Amino acid sequence: METVSTPGAQATSGGDGPLLRVEHVGIDYVTGGRRVTAVGDVSFEVRPREKIILLGPSGCGKSTLLKAIAGFLQPSAGRISVAGRDRLRPGPDRAVVFQEFDQLFPWRTVADNVAYPLRVTGRPRAEAAQVAARFVEMTGLTPAADRYPHQLSGGMKQRVAIARALALDPTILLMDEPFGSLDAQTRTRLQRELNEIVARTHVTLLFVTHSIQEAILLGDRVVVLSHSPSSVREIVDVSAIADPDAEAFVHVRRKLRGLLARDGEEVEGGVDD
Ligand SMILES: Nc1ncnc2c1ncn2[C@@H]1O[C@H](COP(=O)(O)OP(=O)(O)OP(=O)(O)O)[C@@H](O)[C@H]1O
Ligand SMILES: [Mg+2]
Repeated sequence: METVSTPGAQATSGGDGPLLRVEHVGIDYVTGGRRVTAVGDVSFEVRPREKIILLGPSGCGKSTLLKAIAGFLQPSAGRISVAGRDRLRPGPDRAVVFQEFDQLFPWRTVADNVAYPLRVTGRPRAEAAQVAARFVEMTGLTPAADRYPHQLSGGMKQRVAIARALALDPTILLMDEPFGSLDAQTRTRLQRELNEIVARTHVTLLFVTHSIQEAILLGDRVVVLSHSPSSVREIVDVSAIADPDAEAFVHVRRKLRGLLARDGEEVEGGVDD
């Protein structure tokens, strides 16, 4: 694993240009000798500190794209670069939060779950504990710091996963439907909290969702993908829209619905769409 003491600072040093570039990326899977194209031809750019949403129908390749950006798999065509570097391998500059509640270590406490990746990346024990405590606090988990995952609600587990990712001081926070399995009320609360935390940490956010409402509430820009083999249907600026009761919100929601429905897809969106 790369040892990067301040990955955020290092990777953003490329100036004001895009931090992340996805250029004509195609991704195939080979299963049972058959090649299936999941991502057809996708291009978009993310500037430092932007909040970008990937929105698209189920199976269009959102998770696949996120995994390629995280460095877990390589594109079959095109190029993905972060701060000018391509051929990405997984690294602490790109922390990932998944949808599943079981992404925590069940045998470690909340505090230790957050501290563990810091230890792995070379921080001394006391410093790791100190940094972890800060992010446990930021995510409202201090009273639960000594609990184990089985003693937490789904929302609390996702908060731990967010704290753990942010404690690494990533340049980009990659989130794959992290609130998809939560009830509507918890989901709304975590969306609000995430907005506040992202503003405080200045992290760049790339967030995958099915939910149009979530996309508008969290994003600066929404990259709308067609179904698989996916391409970019349109990139919609939603940065000025925050109030769900405002006319502009209703307008952009209708626009995003229209873009998703163009494939004849059922517009999925969970409870809030
Ligand atoms: N490991 C794999 N091997 C083979 N095919 C895969 C693999 N992972 C995903 N796929 C296929 O690639 C396509 C895109 O999958 P992906 O999980 O990226 O979609 P998604 O947009 O994240 O869907 P969802 O919104 O349901 O999570 C799908 O057709 C899926 O079946
Ligand atoms: Mg997915």
